[in-house]
Amino acid sequence: MELQNKVVVITGAARGIGESLAHRVAAQGPAGLVVSDLDLHETQTVAGVVDGTAVACDVSSEQDVQRLVATTLDQYGRLDVLVSNAGITFKGGLETTNDKWQKMWDVNVMSRLYAARAAIPHMLERGSGYLVHTASAAGLLTEIGSATYSVTKHADVAMAEWLSVCYGRHGINVSCVCPLGVKTDMLDNDDPIHRYLHLHSISAEQAAGSIVEGIRSEEFLILPHPEVADFFSMKTDDYDRWLRGMQRLRQKLTRQTNRDEAA
Ligand SMILES: NC(=O)c1ccc[n+]([C@@H]2O[C@H](COP(=O)([O-])OP(=O)(O)OC[C@H]3O[C@@H](n4cnc5c(N)ncnc54)[C@H](O)[C@@H]3O)[C@@H](O)[C@H]2O)c1
Repeated sequence: MELQNKVVVITGAARGIGESLAHRVAAQGPAGLVVSDLDLHETQTVAGVVDGTAVACDVSSEQDVQRLVATTLDQYGRLDVLVSNAGITFKGGLETTNDKWQKMWDVNVMSRLYAARAAIPHMLERGSGYLVHTASAAGLLTEIGSATYSVTKHADVAMAEWLSVCYGRHGINVSCVCPLGVKTDMLDNDDPIHRYLHLHSISAEQAAGSIVEGIRSEEFLILPHPEVADFFSMKTDDYDRWLRGMQRLRQKLTRQTNRDEAA
């Protein structure tokens, strides 16, 4: 799908990948661009630069997401592309509190359900639409340092697959973006696991460019890091071998964390 003359909504657009994507979309000549994030002031700053509309929206609130879609329809009369990009992470494993698990579930997964519920009836009526989910390579592989991130990003990939299976024949495209490291506030340079991700890291602008290209070619899986396709086939070709490799990698990175802490 070409984004020229389309009405596009992006969540989590105040910074990082979402902000860069807003710039990329603006350069395509959309009919309307709605940028949204938690903080209205920050969102307005981005909207001012991309000549878009700012809407404050906490994606973990269904009411907010409904309002985001309703505002778009009021203002532009239609919604062609909804990019569910906002996401968060917490480091940690079994000790992660239930409250944090719930927060991750709400922001990284329920938000995608709320977006689909709000947008799909309108898209079905028009016979066309596009849902883009910014998931992560962690949703296809795993994120060693974060159980909550790995699990919720897998759920996001599953949600995107399910939506594609159910609505693909009704004119609704779905893409699932699965990057490795992207240089945004989400990557923590002090953490060896994140430093490992940095080995493969790209800029938010590069990630945004890849998303626009993926939408243009209507690919389900958008991989800003092409090597993720190889890692994913290694996993599906021999799951046990892949798990052993990940166990070795975790051991190596954990030793590094322990050395860093002792220093
Ligand atoms: N940076 C990476 O290495 C990386 C890799 C793979 C996937 N991702 C995914 O890309 C997406 C964007 O992340 P980023 O790297 O740009 O991070 P970021 O922290 O720079 O930006 C995330 C944005 O989402 C917003 N946000 C957080 N919670 C929200 C909520 N409840 N409602 C609305 N907005 C909210 C934040 O305010 C922020 O502007 C996320 O879904 C993330 O999981 C990032």
